[in-house]
Amino acid sequence: MAVRKIVVLGSDTLRKKSKPVVAFDEDLESLLDDMKKTMVEKRGMGIAAVQVGVLRRAVIVEVADKEYLEIINPTILETKGKVCDSEGCLSVPGFFTDVTRPRHVKIEAFDRKGKKFEFEADDYVARCICHEIDHLDGILFVDHTKEGREYKKSKGVV
Ligand code: CO
Repeated sequence: MAVRKIVVLGSDTLRKKSKPVVAFDEDLESLLDDMKKTMVEKRGMGIAAVQVGVLRRAVIVEVADKEYLEIINPTILETKGKVCDSEGCLSVPGFFTDVTRPRHVKIEAFDRKGKKFEFEADDYVARCICHEIDHLDGILFVDHTKEGREYKKSKGVV
């Protein structure tokens, strides 16, 4: 396992749409192992493959203390409610803004072996899942708020 370099705001890669994972093989396993090591090392609550430069639909979210859920090719099945809370991102170091997200989310996804599962989460974990799934479509949390858009402008990036 290796800590990989985090792609940061301003890189075109972060704005690209990730492709579905098609091979549940050793390459995927080492990608996921490295993503987990990288997020733990950088103290993130979640990480998307694109953040280590790999345009595949794979994310990891810390769903409980030191419990990490690998989420591959996710689909959001249902959302409920709304809650506005502080958010940050390993790819936008040092910046935080309050983002409105669903209070509850239900997803369908695959594990590293290609087995389909459903998962439901509330509050902060739901927030993390939505944030990471946004990454797969090239969307960053700073896109969602006025402060975020001003921050991008101040950095001269889109
Ligand atoms: Co992020």
